[in-house]
Amino acid sequence: MRQRGIWSWLVIVTGLCVLGACAGPGPFGIFVDSTKDCAELLLQRDSQTVAKTREQRFLGKVPETTARCLGGKHAGNLREGPWLDWPNYWAAGDATSLAPARLLAHAKVIGPNAHGINGALYELELQRIELIKFNLFDNNKTYEAYVTGRNGEAGPVLNTWPEMRLPQNHPDFKSVGGNQTQVCRGELIRFRNLTGICNDIRNPLMGSTHQLFARNVEFNTTFPDLGLNEMTKNRHGDRVGLLKPDPQTISRKLFTRAQSQPDRCRDGYGLPGGAKEAECEYKKAPSFNVLAAFWVQFMTHDWFAHLEEGHNRPEWMAVGCATQLVKNIEQPLTRAGVEKLGCRPDDKIDVASIAEGTVPRPFTQGGKTYLTRAPKTTANHVTAWWDASQLYGYDERSGKRVKRDPNDRAKLLLMPVGEEAGEGDKLGYLPVFEPGDPINPEWSGQEATAFPDNWSIGTSFYHNVFAREHNVFVDAFRKQATRMPDGDSGLRNPANPDYVIRYRDVMPNELFEVARLVVAAEIAKIHTTEWTTQLLYNEPLNRGMNANWHGVFAKQEAVADVLKEVVRRLDDTNDAKKANSLYAALAGGPGIFGLGNRVYDGVPLVGLIDPTKQDRWDLRNDDHINGGVNHFGSPFNFPEEFITVYRLHPLLPDLIEYREWNKEPNVIRHNVPVIETFRGKATEAMRQKGLANWALSMGRQRLGALTLQNHPQFLQNLKMPRLQSPTQQIDVAALDLIRDRERGVPRYNEFRRQYGLKQLISYGDFIDTRLPQDSPAQREQAQLVTMLREVYGQHPCDASKKITEAQLNDDGSPINDCLGHPNGSLIDNIEDVDTVVGWLAEFRRPHGFAISETQFVVFILNASRRLFSDRFFTSSFRPEFYTILGVEWVTNNGSGPEMMEQGTPNGHQQPVSPMKRVLLRTMPELASELQGVVNAFDPWARDRGEYYSLDWKPRAGAEGDEAFGSGQVTRGDEN
Ligand code: HEM
Repeated sequence: MRQRGIWSWLVIVTGLCVLGACAGPGPFGIFVDSTKDCAELLLQRDSQTVAKTREQRFLGKVPETTARCLGGKHAGNLREGPWLDWPNYWAAGDATSLAPARLLAHAKVIGPNAHGINGALYELELQRIELIKFNLFDNNKTYEAYVTGRNGEAGPVLNTWPEMRLPQNHPDFKSVGGNQTQVCRGELIRFRNLTGICNDIRNPLMGSTHQLFARNVEFNTTFPDLGLNEMTKNRHGDRVGLLKPDPQTISRKLFTRAQSQPDRCRDGYGLPGGAKEAECEYKKAPSFNVLAAFWVQFMTHDWFAHLEEGHNRPEWMAVGCATQLVKNIEQPLTRAGVEKLGCRPDDKIDVASIAEGTVPRPFTQGGKTYLTRAPKTTANHVTAWWDASQLYGYDERSGKRVKRDPNDRAKLLLMPVGEEAGEGDKLGYLPVFEPGDPINPEWSGQEATAFPDNWSIGTSFYHNVFAREHNVFVDAFRKQATRMPDGDSGLRNPANPDYVIRYRDVMPNELFEVARLVVAAEIAKIHTTEWTTQLLYNEPLNRGMNANWHGVFAKQEAVADVLKEVVRRLDDTNDAKKANSLYAALAGGPGIFGLGNRVYDGVPLVGLIDPTKQDRWDLRNDDHINGGVNHFGSPFNFPEEFITVYRLHPLLPDLIEYREWNKEPNVIRHNVPVIETFRGKATEAMRQKGLANWALSMGRQRLGALTLQNHPQFLQNLKMPRLQSPTQQIDVAALDLIRDRERGVPRYNEFRRQYGLKQLISYGDFIDTRLPQDSPAQREQAQLVTMLREVYGQHPCDASKKITEAQLNDDGSPINDCLGHPNGSLIDNIEDVDTVVGWLAEFRRPHGFAISETQFVVFILNASRRLFSDRFFTSSFRPEFYTILGVEWVTNNGSGPEMMEQGTPNGHQQPVSPMKRVLLRTMPELASELQGVVNAFDPWARDRGEYYSLDWKPRAGAEGDEAFGSGQVTRGDEN
């Protein structure tokens, strides 16, 4: 048994208190729980304390007694296999997961349901702490210091890096301190800068445009195709490469949506004129709508881009459709084979841009050799910050694409278009690019905005909505200014902190930048508390995501204040990794958003509970401005692996079921191919049909399930005139695999091991054993497993080959090529499965999860870092930057007090959601449609039923909606 020190106790206590017992009667509720055996058991689970070394990680698996305590017999029985245990706990699913009444009758203080939720939250927190501890690998030359420390300070608590200084040729080099210690001040720290510099005032370059992507996996596990070390050679033999197994073959066999009437789908191009008779079948997710699909594309355009201005290197490469495995041997595809698959051997794509490709320098520490970076790196060509850069710009060129209203420079330019169909249309639409605008020719005819690539009706929708929202905020601010011109706006200039900026003093340019801050924060809030809680539709995640934002003590301000201050003072803790872990665990209490935006210097911890204590946050104090951020020893940028799990193309349907809000919303009028809204056509469609009709259409339609054989056909057959190939077409689904291989993303099984998840030992592990044996859904899964075996093959294993250092077998022995099977036996090439294919094949998922657990674990780490690292979401979320109205707008989802929904959806009192408020402000004509909507990303006409139900039933008034009729193909719904 591992020795448990005070540290482990602390984590257990904070984990349980911060995330768990808060569901009960008070912060220390767990200790007064009378189901004593269960509580003791929880406190004794030594396997679930924070691991000291990588191979001791928690892996999301618990002993049988723990599972039974938290989820009954059912949870005990479901522990077999590699999948997480917490989803089987009490109350972690729908109403059927709630504990039976007889158990509730015995519970005295906290019943089994609270135990189940608390247990789940505790394990999620443990995972996050271990991810922060073991999965940060920066490519920007700071990794050596992370491992070895610097000037006596341990690596994981370093928070400034010389590598994050502005270079000599940067125009602001001198103003931030030049060759001396660099600190951003004055104008440079007031707002979000175009290129993302000076978000962290002491790391000016961090997160700015063109910085290198990071990694979440050990550098020596990247680029397995290159066979750079013994371990990757052992893992894959000579079976993997850029085009091995063939990506187009994989796409056609494992990604294609089956069509019972291909003539009505026509490769995703539908029928002319958006005819209603068109039909492209797809597997639908039950509780997530098409708005949610385009939302996440809108987000990714803010966070990352490997392409620069829509291009890679001007060098063209083949993309497969050349080979397939036949009985485990790679064979060339015959012409008949090509025809049968429907792939295109003549497709070509531009080669990925590599930032650095020289051999990385190794270094040693504690007898172990490390690489200073991955063998190849790539750059993020937008800001990594959640700063709405897709709307406002990320460099000079993209900034020039953004048009301001010449009559009010605080506003974005929006134009009246055609007849004003609805109230919201008075707010206007984005203008179209003009000759002379800095764009690629393929973007002409589109709405003018900073990030125009892969434009469609979905991106057009969100850009118009948030441009309207920007202007609505400006109008509200101006109204306030008219009411009280001499009032204090809250805004300050750090160059002159004592000068009170009255409403009348706020310049248009300042107001524009304030509105950008507000819109970016609203977007982050929508994503964290609304989109993600619908993506992961169950109670533990609802609490977890709200805790990330508001904290679990949202309604207990005094407690939240104490925790915020405790977290702020954690800098003093001398054990680096412990400090980070404690920080992460405790931050769940007050929430990450707003951490450090109040300061109670000089007040002893016991005094913090006093409601009259004085906030000493001071704009003159660099530590106050920047004090809320924590990068956990590694500069913030997204890892390559994050892009992999955001390759969510199956979310898209091929056709949009078009409706009209002012006629009969229950009627589907057209089936508009998404491809008919590609690039400039999106702008035309938006203007002809109007924002509100598209909102209604995409709000009611279910999106595609993230599973195998469910990629949109139009993306497999995408026509792109810029491509220098005979076909001028590309299979984006195959390209997803190629790009990951080019960027050296480890393949699925090692990917899981690196993230602290259990490996699979055969393709059969993908099958969901919770389903009734031989049910149609399980039979379909078995067929797909057979297809996986055909595509990726099998090999005779060699037990003498060690294949990983990330984990050990349960008995402590190294994991070898046989994965527990007898030496020499024919085993599945599960190690070779591309990560995207692997997570799409995860048929077993936590309740309500639109994504797999493998994707989820990547989000746990990076979604919280996106908040932890950003000054404007932590210590600088203050009126001095946002104005008083701005702070109120973000906090209450608009001006004035928070509005509440009627009733208690899923047992909670809930504010009217931030996205619903945005929709109501920008399209008031949708008020009656939105009345019953609790989450804007749940299909609008769905009856949400009881506790986290996934049923597809119409709400009152939508009984006539054709989407619920028997004619609707709902293939895959049974999954
Ligand atoms: C009409 C809709 C869409 C079109 C036409 C489209 C097209 C494309 C294309 C052509 C690429 C490949 C770029 C390359 O590497 O050469 C790409 C990449 C990508 N797409 Fe989409 N896509 C669409 C929607 C979505 C959606 C809904 C998501 C959801 C998250 C998404 C996520 C991604 C990601 C993560 C990448 C990789 C970006 C990178 O490498 O930095 N796309 N898409």
